[in-house]
Amino acid sequence: MSRNVIQFYTPQDVPKTHYLDNRVYWDEQLFREEQDKIFSKVWKFVCHESELPEIYDYRTASVANTSLVLVRGKDRKVRAFVNACSHRGIEIVRQPRGNARLLECIFHRWTYDPTTGELTGAPRKEAYEQCSFDLKKCGLREIRTESYLGLVFVNLDDSAISLADFIGKGLELQEEILGTSELEVFDYYEQILDTNWKNWQETNMDLYHEFMHFANRRTGLAVKDYYLRPWRTYPHGHVAIERYRAEYSKYAGWQDRDQSIRLPGLDPNEFQLVNIFPDLAINARGTVIRIDSQIPISPGKTLVQYRGLGVKGDDARERRQRVRDYTSIWGPFGTNLAEDTLATSLHARSIGGGKVPFTYLTREEGGMTQDDLGMRSFYREWERLMGRMASAPIEEGR
Ligand SMILES: [Fe+2]
Repeated sequence: MSRNVIQFYTPQDVPKTHYLDNRVYWDEQLFREEQDKIFSKVWKFVCHESELPEIYDYRTASVANTSLVLVRGKDRKVRAFVNACSHRGIEIVRQPRGNARLLECIFHRWTYDPTTGELTGAPRKEAYEQCSFDLKKCGLREIRTESYLGLVFVNLDDSAISLADFIGKGLELQEEILGTSELEVFDYYEQILDTNWKNWQETNMDLYHEFMHFANRRTGLAVKDYYLRPWRTYPHGHVAIERYRAEYSKYAGWQDRDQSIRLPGLDPNEFQLVNIFPDLAINARGTVIRIDSQIPISPGKTLVQYRGLGVKGDDARERRQRVRDYTSIWGPFGTNLAEDTLATSLHARSIGGGKVPFTYLTREEGGMTQDDLGMRSFYREWERLMGRMASAPIEEGR
C-alpha cells in the first residue's frame, strides 16, 4: 500500500534508536554543531606514519575547519601545529606535503622551526620591544598528536582522554594486520562526494547493501558463513566485524589468490573491517588495506581520502599484485567503490531539504553481519556527543 502525506511524515512505531530524522544529514546548524561537539573533541585520524618517513617531512590536514601541519621531528615523533602564523593568522604551509627546514609565512616573513613550532625569526623585530610584545610567546599552537599501529591521530581538545583510552579495544581485530610488519601507503586519492559525511561512514557499516555490489554478490555472499559474522561494538562508537573468507575458486571466472603475497595475520582470501568513530574505516581485503577518512565540507559535501597500504619492502612482483588487487576493487573505477559513491549521492539527492523524512536502521539479526547494529552503535555515540536524539535532533519551534 502506498502512503499519503501524513503517513509519509510519521515514523513507524519502532524504537527511537532504530531510525534517523534525515535532518541529521542536511541541517546546517547540526552540521556546524558536529564540528564543535564531535570533530573538535575526538581523536581524528589524519595520516599514516609512512607518509612522513624523514625528519622535516610535513603534510597538511584539516580538522574541524582548522588547518594543521604535521611534521616529523628530530626525535622521530610526529607533531601537529595549527597552520597559521602567530602574527596575523595567515595560513603558512600551502603545499599538501613536502620537506622543509623552516616554515615561512609569506606575509611578513616570520619563520618557524617545523619540528618544534618555535618562532625563529621576524624581520626588524626591534619595533616590537616598545610595547613589550614578547616574540618568545609567538610559537605555533601545538595540537595533541598520538600514533597507534601506525595510524596518526590528532585531538584539538587538550583535555580529551588519551588516544589509547579513546580507541580501547576498537582495533583488536586488526592489531596483527596493522602492527606486525611495517606498512606503507602506496596509493592516495581524494574525492568530493555529494553526500553527508555520516552517510559515507554508514556505507562502511551497512553490510546489507552488499547486494548492490556485483563482485560481492558473486563471491562473498555465496559463502555460507557470510551472514553469520558477529559485529563487535566498543565504547566511543567504534565497531568491527569478524572476518570472512571468500572461496573464489568455486566461482566461474574467479580464482583463489596467490598465497605467497599476504598481509600479516590475514589470508589472501579474507576480508576484515573496522570502523573507528567518527570517520575512519579500515578495510583489509586480501593483500591490501584501504583506509577511508573524511573532511566534511558542508552538510551535503564531503571530501573522502582513500589510502591504499601494503607491506614496506615489497619486491616489484608483490607490489604490482597489491596495486592490482587494490585498484580493481577500490580504485575510482574499481568494481566496488564506484557503486558505493553512486548510492551515497543518490541518498543525498533524494532526502535533502526534508523531501524524505526518515532513514530506518531496523534490521535485527542477533548482531550478525546484516544487522544494523553497527550503524545504531555509531548513532548512540553521535547522540551522546551532540546531546540530541538522531530520531528527533531539532527541538520544536526552532
Ligand atoms: Fe559498498
